[in-house]
Amino acid sequence: MCGIIAYLGEDSAAPILLEGLKRLEYRGYDSAGILTVNDESQFELKKDVGKVLEIHEKLNFLDLNGTAGIAHTRWATHGGVTQANAHPHLSNNGRIAVIHNGIIENYKELRSKLTSQGFVFSSETDTEVVPNLIEYWMRIKGLDLVEAVLNTFQSLEGNFAIVLIDRDSKTIIGAKNGSPLVLGVGSNGKNEYFLASDIPAFLDRTKDVVYLYDGDMVVLRCDSHSRSKKSSSYQIYNFRDGRKIVTRPVQSVSWDMEHAAKGEFDHFMLKEITEQVETIQKAGAQDRETIEDIARRIKEAKGVFLIGCGSSFHACLSVSYLFSKLAAFHINTVLASEFSAYEHFLKKDTLVIAVSQSGETIDILDAVRTAKQKGCQVISIVNVMGSSLTQMSDKTLFLNVGPEISVLSTKTYTAQLVVLTLLAYALAGNLDEGLQRVKYLWNIVYNLTAASTRARIRALADRLSKSEHIFVIGRGSLYATALEAALKIKEVSYIHAEAFAGGELKHGPISLIGKDTPCIVFVSKDTEKLILSNAMEVKSRGGYLIGIGPTPIESFDFFIKVPETGELNPVCDIIPIQILAYQLAVILGHDPDRPRNLAKSVTVR
Ligand code: F6R
Repeated sequence: MCGIIAYLGEDSAAPILLEGLKRLEYRGYDSAGILTVNDESQFELKKDVGKVLEIHEKLNFLDLNGTAGIAHTRWATHGGVTQANAHPHLSNNGRIAVIHNGIIENYKELRSKLTSQGFVFSSETDTEVVPNLIEYWMRIKGLDLVEAVLNTFQSLEGNFAIVLIDRDSKTIIGAKNGSPLVLGVGSNGKNEYFLASDIPAFLDRTKDVVYLYDGDMVVLRCDSHSRSKKSSSYQIYNFRDGRKIVTRPVQSVSWDMEHAAKGEFDHFMLKEITEQVETIQKAGAQDRETIEDIARRIKEAKGVFLIGCGSSFHACLSVSYLFSKLAAFHINTVLASEFSAYEHFLKKDTLVIAVSQSGETIDILDAVRTAKQKGCQVISIVNVMGSSLTQMSDKTLFLNVGPEISVLSTKTYTAQLVVLTLLAYALAGNLDEGLQRVKYLWNIVYNLTAASTRARIRALADRLSKSEHIFVIGRGSLYATALEAALKIKEVSYIHAEAFAGGELKHGPISLIGKDTPCIVFVSKDTEKLILSNAMEVKSRGGYLIGIGPTPIESFDFFIKVPETGELNPVCDIIPIQILAYQLAVILGHDPDRPRNLAKSVTVR
């Protein structure tokens, strides 16, 4: 949660930081702030509650002077949404300013130690201990900046990414420990550096990045010598590994700004839904040898766990049916947040497949840490390169769909389904068929995301926008699709939506069905007979049926045709509901890219 960006270079920092904040806002949007150091070595700071642009309209961030600065957009954890709790936070002597993503678990203890040394606190955040600890080590203990910061980071418990700036030397220091932080290095020899939670924050300035590892601390210096092209450099220490200086490669990312901009679309969510025409194909373009190697490892393992959270978990659940159906292989599908209950089944020859868009979700990182401690092999399926999960895994398959900016998973969900489905085919010794079938989806997804389909779904959204409840049913892998559909609808429209396996309706939930209660029904060739009889149970109690599948039936009040694609039905069937969820949010006046209370990567337990 929370977005961080820092800039050190030759250009005015404020516009770069503001642009970066706009692109990071999906990570949190309760409050925001920008701080720069001007030519007189003074801090200039503006922060407030609200969204980045609202604050900018009120305070004008572009007034801030200087070529070095830090900026933050917050998703509140410790302390309410107030101006005082907004980042950056300053040390008592006003020399050190800090921005932070994550949680400092031992902040209460640190805070009381500092209080006993005479420090005072002006916010309720866990963050504020950091600048004050640095001040403590510098002012009271006489250490230099780098030593003071190393001491400080070593005393913090929890997962965090922290960036700080020293007013007097304009030095910027960033550290990563379980939360994301990437270093951007000015391209074509340009003398500038960036530190950010995510690459799109600085993608318009450089594509050259350094992926930091947990425990890494980057020092970006700004003095008259290091500002010259020849001597400008950065140094990375690892504060978890004997404070050693480490080297990390500079890598070039293939994403470009087009991926990180809305283009002709009103919202990222709609852009990302329509991008699925290409992203499904990109996800399918996996290296054959790697897929077959992983299939071999699955076969050889004694017990396989497939874990994820939220939509990523739904992708796991969906494909667990295919592992069984195609390859007669049992896979344990577990919510990452519940994984600790299964710890005693983990052995050296157990394989854990961790699925996560961001690769930063704390629940999945915790689960993988446990698996690694037990000696298990870990394979991850991730979108974000260099993320913590990729660093902890023995092998990673990337989704290759470019950055997903909208908080809701759309293109990454279908990409996860594609990659996992290919694994199931490979396990069944039939990868070619899987690859062929993925190719065949292009045309179907093109039609499903076309403007004409979106217009039809808009008419449905108009009707459903007045509903208090929406139910969704499916069977087999389409039960997982139903869960994902209900999640998409509720998280962005705030309408209560709930999914059931079709066969479960009669065991209780059917009592919720009354006149005109909307119920979405996912139909496929192999589930048709049974799911339609469940649909009729709803119809006969007055329900309003919305059918999604290959063939309309008379009892459907609304029908969206999705051609039958067998094992790949879950990939195509979710798309109309992604569009429906988007349209509901727009009709109801909600921001589809930034639903209330949510953030893109969930780094709290
Ligand atoms: C829903 C959504 C979330 C994520 C979940 C896991 O639209 O995006 O449910 O799927 O927070 O996130 P990752 O996949 O990043 O681990």
